[in-house]
Amino acid sequence: MGCFGCFAPEEEDDDLKPSKPNYHSSDESSGADARRKVAPLTPDGGNGYAHSFTFKDLLVATGYFNEANFIGEGGFGKVYKGKINGQMVAVKQLTQNGVQGRNEFLVEVLMLTVLNHPHLVSLVGFCAQGDERLLVYEYMPFGSLESHLFDVPPGKQPLDWNTRMRIAVGVAEGLSYLHNVADPPIIYRDMKAANILLDENFRPKLSDFGLAKVGPVGDKTHVSTRVMGTYGYCAPDYLHSGKLTMKSDIYSFGVLLLELITGRRIFDASRPKPEQSLLTWSRPFLHDKRKFHRLADLALQGCYPTSALNQLVVISIMCLQEQPHVRPIIADVVIGLNHVASQPYAPERYPVSLSSPAKCGSPQGTPSRRRAGRRITQRA
Ligand SMILES: Nc1ncnc2c1ncn2[C@@H]1O[C@H](COP(=O)(O)OP(=O)(O)OP(=O)(O)O)[C@@H](O)[C@H]1O
Ligand SMILES: [Mg+2]
Repeated sequence: MGCFGCFAPEEEDDDLKPSKPNYHSSDESSGADARRKVAPLTPDGGNGYAHSFTFKDLLVATGYFNEANFIGEGGFGKVYKGKINGQMVAVKQLTQNGVQGRNEFLVEVLMLTVLNHPHLVSLVGFCAQGDERLLVYEYMPFGSLESHLFDVPPGKQPLDWNTRMRIAVGVAEGLSYLHNVADPPIIYRDMKAANILLDENFRPKLSDFGLAKVGPVGDKTHVSTRVMGTYGYCAPDYLHSGKLTMKSDIYSFGVLLLELITGRRIFDASRPKPEQSLLTWSRPFLHDKRKFHRLADLALQGCYPTSALNQLVVISIMCLQEQPHVRPIIADVVIGLNHVASQPYAPERYPVSLSSPAKCGSPQGTPSRRRAGRRITQRA
């Protein structure tokens, strides 16, 4: 979380006191409107409970925000590892005191209190004492997908094909929950590799719900909003019109799939100019089925099933359609991805010339504490 809009600051909404209820539907419903519109989302009532911690609780939990417990930093603030009541947690501290950060804090607490799915990160609690704003999550030991997919340092095993596929399916299932199970539906708005957190089995969970919006209900086809998101992941139609739909999330997911296939960031200033934009670089390969294999991450060293790779590229292309109405709905994406995942890479079935067969094994290692070449909060 921790983002800024490109045009103007969010409206002020900076404490946890309930505002005057407003039951009129509004196209301009901000994510903070979730307070009055979202509950109850699921038959089982979601997480249902987020503990209100004192600042002292979190000081103790993190060893007074000890540098040794520092995990990383995003636009919202620093994240520390901690322990509360025997449970490992990640404590995210809002550093900027702006309205935007407070808004995201509130939306995140409200969303994660009512949402509950194995592929959504759990909120253990929060702290809103004085000017302090902190979020307490379940600890995700393998960090973000971003830290495993890009700029993998020598000696660290890259993500193998089967793991990438499991991650793709899990993320799609999390998104499907938001679009199809949550009632009213939720538009995530912040799909990106940095926001996909991994447990010790590389199972993915969506995190950062500060930008999430209640989706259109009734006859409405979209929600009008100022454009927020992350450069490159934002759907072109949303960028130009400000009209947010479920299909905006589908486009961002298409970008994520392309990143999983290629191991390249959607934008990478450290690459030669023609390769900096993933979409520009990949366009010639996406347009010619015979060239799909050129998209495959070199770190995979050819260890993937060719037909499954081709199918995954096609799903990504469908999600990345310029026109939102021709992008698939997430339920169909889940079906397609499950089909692709049902054809796992098995080294004995797909012999390739490798210097070391072990390179096709499972990924290992823990995430680096800081992302290389990170773009902290470039939001569109
Ligand atoms: N629950 C968690 N468990 C373990 N690590 C986490 C958890 N939440 C966040 N992190 C790590 O903390 C770091 C900062 O995360 P944060 O969500 O604040 O920023 P970001 O997603 O990297 O960037 P942005 O602000 O653009 O969303 C990342 O390295 C992330 O992997
Ligand atoms: Mg994040």
